[in-house]
Amino acid sequence: MAQRSSFVVVANRLPVDEIITPDGERQWRPSPGGLVTALHPVLTEHRGTWIGWSGGDGPAPEPFELDGIHIHPVPLSADELERYYEGQSNATIWPLYHDAVETPVYKRRWRDSYRAVNQRFAEAAADVAAEGATVWVQDYQLQLVPAMLREMRSDLRIGFFLHIPFPPIELFMQMPFRAEVLRGLLGADLVGFQQRLAAQNFVRLARHLLGLRYEGQSIQVDGRKVKAGAFPISIDTRDMERLAADPAVQARAKQIRAELGDPKTVILGVDRLDYTKGIELRLKAFRELLADERLNVGDAVMVQVATPSRERVEHYQALRVKVEREVGRINGEFGKVGTPAVHYLHQSVSKQELAAMYAAADVMMVTPLRDGMNLVAKEYIACRGDTGGALVLSEFAGAATELRQAFLCNPHDPDGVKDALMRAINTEPAELKRRIRVMQRHLRTHDVARWARTFLAELDADEAENAAEG
Ligand code: ADP
Ligand code: F6P
Repeated sequence: MAQRSSFVVVANRLPVDEIITPDGERQWRPSPGGLVTALHPVLTEHRGTWIGWSGGDGPAPEPFELDGIHIHPVPLSADELERYYEGQSNATIWPLYHDAVETPVYKRRWRDSYRAVNQRFAEAAADVAAEGATVWVQDYQLQLVPAMLREMRSDLRIGFFLHIPFPPIELFMQMPFRAEVLRGLLGADLVGFQQRLAAQNFVRLARHLLGLRYEGQSIQVDGRKVKAGAFPISIDTRDMERLAADPAVQARAKQIRAELGDPKTVILGVDRLDYTKGIELRLKAFRELLADERLNVGDAVMVQVATPSRERVEHYQALRVKVEREVGRINGEFGKVGTPAVHYLHQSVSKQELAAMYAAADVMMVTPLRDGMNLVAKEYIACRGDTGGALVLSEFAGAATELRQAFLCNPHDPDGVKDALMRAINTEPAELKRRIRVMQRHLRTHDVARWARTFLAELDADEAENAAEG
């Protein structure tokens, strides 16, 4: 029988991905993305169990311990990888929930696979959770799990958190198995979102689609109360500050600037290579500023780090071609021998290297067309110490609600993006420092521990309320 735990997190990804080397040896490397960045410190503190997929398409490795977390891998077959993960999760739900910035693809066989995999995750949670445990289900890949789990284990407290945006009713209604998804989520006691508006979309949708009554953010479902709320996710701010202040990281930051030719302005982009992130539009803005001679190569250099992501999904393959074509075009037109205009890395880098890059960059460009939160924006601020710096931030990132001292822009307006970048470059250093300090103060109090604490406290409070009413 599996080891029982009173705190269980269920997420598509584990914090580490399994890699089998060409000589058959098993290795683990950190998984990509904001969900893992946020949950790793939370789980370390709670010493709970993390149920998730280990990254491959073979049998699941045996459960193991990592940084005090009990890791419980769930297997996916090659077929499920294609249908549940790449198909339903990342070619249907991902684009639909991100304002349909790429056209969502709908396939029946993908939905069947999504159901089967959600059932497997729910069964794993039912096996692992102790009597009365708290189970916290994460993100869009597992929206059916709350209801499936409740069916098997009505003794559990079930929370759900959506890391990505939740669409307005008109968009959600496109989804063929929309009522099933909504009922899946309503299996939770508390459904958390990044933004207030998303929570409102959700409660209104429950009335619109299922005719359920709600009061404030509380929905009545089969005699139970399901609460919705906004819980903006964050980073481990102190940890990031400490890392960036490390002398080795600071030395590496200086070295990076030197390797870039000690330009006046280093402009940085760091993202998963994803079409929601607005990488192309950022490159295009930089190209036009070079063409308009508002910027010059040598004075300004752009570094774009793009982590490989979902590489077999068509939208992602097309994006890679477009981004690499744009980088080639900019360097072809404006680069000089030994002085490219854009340095492009299609790779993951270590946390230390990333912190050094943040510390080396005068301007950070975060320009998604839509993003649930965007932790990169927060990491940059935390890594600046008292050196100032400027964040150009899309109004369509959840982070824009909190980081009001950033240079906000509308990513759909190329001239607006160019102007925001130029304002960031030309603002007085004292004003830049002031802005960064205000955002740093905010992030010190609004860190990831607070995010988890607030969500879990609300989940507990609901239990007390329901018990009092029942
Ligand atoms: P998402 O969850 O959509 O990937 P976020 O910005 O919220 O977007 O989170 C991305 C996380 O992945 C951050 O913690 C960031 O540091 C990390 N990351 C992004 N790009 C890289 C990279 N090239 N190498 C290593 N880590 C990266
Ligand atoms: O929060 C967005 C998110 O999709 C997470 O759910 C996910 O872990 C991360 O980005 C990275 O994506 P993937 O797991 O598909 O590589």
